[in-house]
Amino acid sequence: MKAMTNEEQNGRQIIPLKEGWKFTRHSLEEPEPVQGSRVHLDESGWETVRVPHDWAIAGPFHPDHDVHVNSVMEDGIHDNITHVGRTGALPIVGIGWYRLHIIIPEAWRGRLITVEFDGVMSNSTVYMNGTECGSWPYGYTSFTFDLTEHVTFGGENVLAVQVCSLPSSSRWYPGAGIYRQVRLVVKSPVHVAPWGTYITASDISEQCASIRVRTNVAGSSDSAAKVELITQLLNPEGILCAQATSVQEVCAHAEFEQHLTVKRPALWGTAHPRLYKAVSTVLLDGVEVDQYETPFGIRTISFDAKEGFRLNGEYMKLKGVCLHHDLGPLGAAVHVRAMERQLELMKEMGCNAIRMSHNPPAPELLDLCDAMGLLVIDEAFDEWGVGKVENGYHRLFKDWAEQDLRAMISRDRNHPSIIMWSIGNEMREQRLESGAITTAFLTGIVHDADPTRPVTAGFSMSDDAIENGLAAAVDIPGWNYKPHRYEEYHLHHPDWIMYGSETASTVSSRGVYHLPAVEDIPVEPKSDLQASSYDLSAPPWGTTPDQEFMAQEDLPYMLGEFVWTGFDYLGEPTPYRKEWPSRSSYFGIMDLCGLPKDRYYLYQSQWSSKPVLHLLPHWNWEGHECREIPVVCYTSYQAAELFLNGASLGIRRKSASSQPERYRLRWNAVPYEPGCLRVVAYDENEAPAMTHEVRTAGAPASVQLEADRNVIRADGEDLSFVTVSIVDEQGILCPRANHPVSFCLEGPGEIVAVDNGDPTSTTSFSAMSISTFSGKCLVIVRSRAGEAGSIVVYANSNLLHMGKTVISLL
Ligand code: GAL
Repeated sequence: MKAMTNEEQNGRQIIPLKEGWKFTRHSLEEPEPVQGSRVHLDESGWETVRVPHDWAIAGPFHPDHDVHVNSVMEDGIHDNITHVGRTGALPIVGIGWYRLHIIIPEAWRGRLITVEFDGVMSNSTVYMNGTECGSWPYGYTSFTFDLTEHVTFGGENVLAVQVCSLPSSSRWYPGAGIYRQVRLVVKSPVHVAPWGTYITASDISEQCASIRVRTNVAGSSDSAAKVELITQLLNPEGILCAQATSVQEVCAHAEFEQHLTVKRPALWGTAHPRLYKAVSTVLLDGVEVDQYETPFGIRTISFDAKEGFRLNGEYMKLKGVCLHHDLGPLGAAVHVRAMERQLELMKEMGCNAIRMSHNPPAPELLDLCDAMGLLVIDEAFDEWGVGKVENGYHRLFKDWAEQDLRAMISRDRNHPSIIMWSIGNEMREQRLESGAITTAFLTGIVHDADPTRPVTAGFSMSDDAIENGLAAAVDIPGWNYKPHRYEEYHLHHPDWIMYGSETASTVSSRGVYHLPAVEDIPVEPKSDLQASSYDLSAPPWGTTPDQEFMAQEDLPYMLGEFVWTGFDYLGEPTPYRKEWPSRSSYFGIMDLCGLPKDRYYLYQSQWSSKPVLHLLPHWNWEGHECREIPVVCYTSYQAAELFLNGASLGIRRKSASSQPERYRLRWNAVPYEPGCLRVVAYDENEAPAMTHEVRTAGAPASVQLEADRNVIRADGEDLSFVTVSIVDEQGILCPRANHPVSFCLEGPGEIVAVDNGDPTSTTSFSAMSISTFSGKCLVIVRSRAGEAGSIVVYANSNLLHMGKTVISLL
């Protein structure tokens, strides 16, 4: 039972509801076997879970889970086909019940008791002590309900949440359950409304910036009272830099607008993401009753049809990736460190922008983008009124679209990282003449809710979207997979600002190389259900990364691109829609574990300012494969020389006029002989600048563990991602070893997930053992709250030397 304390009488109390939830689920077919909202209920057979919670991620994987039978017009599939694994082949479908017992102290009488959900997947209904307090269908938007009237003060209360996850409701793995944070917020009846502040900056110069703060104070005092709002702005060092006070007589609701000046503003940028904070204090008849904090940034964004995007006046190409919300083996449940790791890996690659495809993310992800200096497109929908899947958002669109769109914008509008609002992705309305009306309707809502950022959408059927007026009805049309059309669109619409909202969709499996290494678009299914890491394969609508690089480089008016996708995600196995056991995507620049595929270095060589030199494939070919192997180098240098066992195979230079030679160096037919492939990069003076080697590995000898961080916080939340490699006696990775590895752990921590990045693996992510894939796998370790010391992780594989790593707790 959760006992609530009453530490503060006046300010608000925010109590995260994480531990101690009881959970059970049943199929949709069973008629109400559980009446989970009832106050008195035998919960003895229920599981104890911690929230955020994704009930489906532990599996088991099964081809019968959420099978879809439909066409995919977007992908040129006009007949109904059976999609296996489209949403990950995990048990997402069903009814889930969550219950939490809470003691609400008598001292809270007279205060407002509310519950805030960052997101529940999906169709949730919330009950307090048996009474329904509200429902919220869309799984990706945040909502809050008032529980006050149904609460028992000075006693036990039961908060119950029913979740109804329907079949065929998504094109990817949505997760299932209360997968984001929940909190109880106890506050004065007169308070800053949820997401009730809206802060904008204008007239920004080196000397000063004008800050407008709008604050929505909700009130329910019986008679008109004097409400005073004090807004204090703290600079990035936490020092008070501006203050305003306003007074109004209110009894129900008051809108305040305050204008403040910040001297010598420290701008938010990608290199220096400086954040200010507004502290709003509400006083009722002179007594402080509420306090609310809003982080924000001061920065300018501008978009130009000829000159592209500028941040704080400086030209910047958007080098972006699209991300779905799942965190690979951790599923959809929010894990802040896992999100941070993903963003760190993307930044390291030179990425500066994220498209939240195709739905609003967890608020923590936006906080991280603010803190790390990543630009964001926040996207609302993947469907409007015409569906792509049977139970998709189209069923909600008419009744909920405005509410969901406004919920996204009012929650997210103070994040400096957000540069555009996207009202949708590849909506089927592109083909309809009436599509422009819907586009104008949604664009109008966004302009009303936040006129400081442009509205965009991702168009795939670009000719239709132009002809039917959708493209003209947004501020900035985004093109999905159209690098070959950019020039034409620019010529016909010279005043349109444009970018690649979705690009490449190249597919690959980490460490897998199919021969011959030739362009494979549209990609042909292979017998191993994998995709080649020569990075030449894509579905019919996709391209190689190179083709998009070339367009973006040659056309300065293009704002940039958003690659589909930064990471592999659960579901949408393409091209293996029908083939079991494919159950996750092959589109990622990183695999599902977050281990880099070769493509990572291709993007890094093009996007970052780091020196990059990377060779592919591995050099462990055998038997019948011993023939001529194409060797490719991804590098930031213009020229490099390849050596096999000391003998030169010649120098290759990038060629500005053709691709892929413009971005890759390639030795087409290297006669295979075991040993050492060495590449030497030359700088502009033809001097050797950097070398890199790939060696033939001997027999597997040991298991090697490498933690991304060997020191983590002892807070029960922090994670260490430990990469497991099978290596030979000299420590060289055995790139084809698919060895079973089992794990055990000593000390105050736990193994939360394992994975190997193989899109066809059916091993549960909750197992204590997994096979390596292309020589590697991953184990994720979490600390236990409040326990000092260190965690030791052991990894065993048959007769190999055991691997071990130590993770200290702070
Ligand atoms: C796009 C779509 C994405 C994903 C991608 C795969 O058309 O917007 O959600 O399905 O194709 O290439």
